[in-house]
Amino acid sequence: MGVKSPLALLFLATLAGYSVAQTIVATTPPFVAQLYVPNIPRPRHMLLDLAGDILVTSNTQSRVTAIRETNNGNGTVTVTTRVIVDGAGLGLNHGIAFYGGFLYASNPTTVFRWPYTPGSFQLINQNTRQTVIQGIPSVQGHTTRTLAFDRQGRLYVAIGTQTNATPSPHRSRILRFNNLGNQFLPIPFGNGEVFAHGCRNTVGLGFNANDVLFGVDMGADMLQRPDVGAIWGDNPGDDMLYLPTDTSDFLTAGLYQFKVLECKV
Ligand SMILES: *[C@@H]1O[C@H](CO)[C@@H](O)[C@H](O)[C@H]1NC(C)=O
Repeated sequence: MGVKSPLALLFLATLAGYSVAQTIVATTPPFVAQLYVPNIPRPRHMLLDLAGDILVTSNTQSRVTAIRETNNGNGTVTVTTRVIVDGAGLGLNHGIAFYGGFLYASNPTTVFRWPYTPGSFQLINQNTRQTVIQGIPSVQGHTTRTLAFDRQGRLYVAIGTQTNATPSPHRSRILRFNNLGNQFLPIPFGNGEVFAHGCRNTVGLGFNANDVLFGVDMGADMLQRPDVGAIWGDNPGDDMLYLPTDTSDFLTAGLYQFKVLECKV
């Protein structure tokens, strides 16, 4: 099968929805979108590995799928997929990261890892799985645990609120774990350093080319204003966060300095 499709289209297709039957996404020229990979239910985070394969988690299938694009040399590409982590029973639902020869993935309470060679494109032996972080609070509320590593190998784990808009202990935070290589595993969640708090539900974390960390924070739902009624549909209070990683005062420095989206009403 040959499809015309640059990698960027996967991103659009992923944003678009959860099943093949659904319309992909409305686009405004010159942007176009087409179905790129049809068989990953509720795709969540994607990672481009060092060999150029895309690794993607699913919100409903506890697995990691690798996507490989081969150039056909005639203006089309062939896209093949392979399950590389079969996390049956683990409840993997969102987070994915790679560092130091290991692939990491998360469920609501736990971060796991497997030895991984970028580009290997084959099922990883489940016996090699290690539990890295355990005991993440998961009663109710947001269930995704976004993962990211900085260049020093520090692991960031985001955990959203228990409710829509009220504070809850140990939630709405990004924790950071240092020196993973020097610790006994699994590491209790409580051992993490509170890197940032007040982040309602940071489902996206990523470093830019200059190693600056940004987060995408999902704002509260069901916001109302007496004069205009519901305001969250067209005006989600979602923020892009600038998250400085190399200052000692994480709790006060920088959070919400860089707001891209705000309520416009
Ligand atoms: C391009 O090459 C692929 C792989 O050989 C083939 O399946 C496909 O039909 C070709 N498409 C066109 C438009 O030539």
